[in-house]
Amino acid sequence: MAKLIDGKAVAAEIRAKIALEVAELIHHGVTPGLAVVIVGDDPASRTYVNNKKKACEQAGIYSEEYALPATASQNEIMDLVAKLNAKKDINGILVQSPLPDGLNEEAVVEAIDPEKDVDAFLPSNVGRIMIGNHHFLPCTPAGIIELLRSENIEIEGKDCVVIGRSNIVGKPMAMLLLHNNGTVTICHSKTKNLKEVCRRADILVAAVGKPKFVTADMVKPGAVVIDVGMDRDENGKLCGDVDFANVAKTASYITPVPGGVGPMTIAMLLRNTVAAAKRQSGMAKP
Ligand code: GUN
Repeated sequence: MAKLIDGKAVAAEIRAKIALEVAELIHHGVTPGLAVVIVGDDPASRTYVNNKKKACEQAGIYSEEYALPATASQNEIMDLVAKLNAKKDINGILVQSPLPDGLNEEAVVEAIDPEKDVDAFLPSNVGRIMIGNHHFLPCTPAGIIELLRSENIEIEGKDCVVIGRSNIVGKPMAMLLLHNNGTVTICHSKTKNLKEVCRRADILVAAVGKPKFVTADMVKPGAVVIDVGMDRDENGKLCGDVDFANVAKTASYITPVPGGVGPMTIAMLLRNTVAAAKRQSGMAKP
């Protein structure tokens, strides 16, 4: 049976360290601040935003929520971002994705001050990650690297396969694994022989958004399996992209859903918000 990687516990440890760091910053007159923008009433987005706000509070980070109706115009959102860019008590801005249909999400993201882009979604920050000179690391991929570290799982020289090529997870995940000297393959809906490619993986990251997509026959015995999915199974129950019950029989390590990758994404958001506050107050190391 695979060993469970307990993302909740690892995230709690990181969050406790961040809380100490925040207390120290506050002592020096700097209170990190995060603005969270949510547009519309998508229930999943609402849960994520609530969790992010609660985590900020627990870490001593100041947070503000801006909830706009689904009918908000592009201009209204752009004006809000401009206002938040200028706000001195706000170091990080997060616009919860996805925005309702009809809004240009790319334009909204690109309006964020790159120094406040705690999601690391802006082209300039993506470029920085690509060349290995980041200001902010993308939250979910960075959280996964921390999960691997927490179990002393070596990435260097390993065959790493990422299923999914989204800008939020798949692509930046591949880049971080590469920076850690993994040999990386990205799979997607047009990949031929998906099963065979996945079976080569020492480290398999599933970020497809399809319930129980990764079955046991796609996993090499002893592989490390990371599940980024937040899906619903045929009974409406929360599950991941991995057929956990069967894959856990052959993998060496596996992340559960919930309680695996999800909590790490939030911990990394807090870390980026603290990094943003330090950079903006001149406290960051050059
Ligand atoms: N929607 C799903 N994940 C994320 C995330 O990490 N950041 C933002 N802004 N939206 C998301």
